[in-house]
Amino acid sequence: MRHADVEFAPFDPSTASDADYEAITELRARMHAVDRPGTPPLSLAATIELMTSDDGAAIGPRTFWTARDADGLLGFATVILPDRENTDLAMVFLEVGLDLRRRGIGTAFLRALLPSLQASGRPRILAANVTGGSDGEPFAEAMGLVCTIRGLLQTLEVESVDPALWDVTAPDGYRLYGWTDAAPEELIVSYAEARKAIADAPSQDLAWEETDWTPQRVRDEEAAFAAAGQDYRIVVAVHEDSGEVAGVTELVIRPGEPDHARQMDTAVRKEHRGHGLGRAIKAEMMRRLVADRPDLARVSTTTASDNVYMVGVNHSVGYVDARSLAYWETATDDLVARLGN
Ligand SMILES: CC(C)(COP(=O)(O)OP(=O)(O)OC[C@H]1O[C@@H](n2cnc3c(N)ncnc32)[C@H](O)[C@@H]1OP(=O)(O)O)[C@@H](O)C(=O)NCCC(=O)NCCS
Repeated sequence: MRHADVEFAPFDPSTASDADYEAITELRARMHAVDRPGTPPLSLAATIELMTSDDGAAIGPRTFWTARDADGLLGFATVILPDRENTDLAMVFLEVGLDLRRRGIGTAFLRALLPSLQASGRPRILAANVTGGSDGEPFAEAMGLVCTIRGLLQTLEVESVDPALWDVTAPDGYRLYGWTDAAPEELIVSYAEARKAIADAPSQDLAWEETDWTPQRVRDEEAAFAAAGQDYRIVVAVHEDSGEVAGVTELVIRPGEPDHARQMDTAVRKEHRGHGLGRAIKAEMMRRLVADRPDLARVSTTTASDNVYMVGVNHSVGYVDARSLAYWETATDDLVARLGN
């Protein structure tokens, strides 16, 4: 394949046609069956929603790119520029059709993205959630990226889990409590404080700046989920004596994918660890979820592979290991030196 015949261009979700979205959905459905074992492919509606709607969990603006030739779509790229924390990063994810690999398209695509990556002024380029053992890893390595953290995707298929696993009571001295959308005013200060406990999760060699949670940041995030029309759910453990939030777990369900809940942070404050709170809040979350969302089929969560405690808590409430994941990164200057233009 001559890359002169391939056009790499920005993709504008707001002006894209139905045929464009169908091509992306189909390209990804075939790829993901191989590249993302354990995750069902997205429907057309979910693909459109993902690209056209705001995401309350977004860490910065996204831009999309396509690779096409006369026969149609060959590949797709997503670039995210985090805009509050991690502003030294450009996050890049390339996808090339399953039958089109090892022909240099991925390399040419990355080269085509370089001017805009350089223009973003971000010194680090990060490819997140590359499936362990997939084509993405040797590609990343060939591009000079190094792996900075390995993780695990775990999934819970509601149908196949015995709900008795969620019959977990709060440890003595704590009560479980939950809400959707917005934290109660009386808990917001200690809830924001408890959210900072995620910074203790293992980060291996990845330099990652966690959110500096304050009550205002919590309200900003809640507003973002509300504006995106996403079902945002939180369960906390409250320490009875102090009235403070000791542990939190949060997840979100997007309107375009109503059968899939995505677990986000789970954290227990240091002084409250070792009492089984992680398991108790996750079990409570499942009890509430299945009661409120009978259409829910699955929950997915990602965790650093060496976060043995969290991985074990997830197993205890019915998650199974779906696939390994890795983050790969390089300095932008090194990539430019390697690929040039
Ligand atoms: C990663 C991906 C975009 C690569 O696309 P591609 O068009 O096959 O990449 P290229 O043909 O330009 O590969 C460049 C080099 O990477 C290395 N490489 C790529 N895939 C490889 C594989 N499966 N095994 C060994 N080396 C591989 C080779 O050194 C290759 O050069 P060569 O073919 O001359 O030996 C594609 O495999 C893909 O879409 N994977 C799924 C999504 C993903 O994991 N993305 C990661 C984003 S960084």
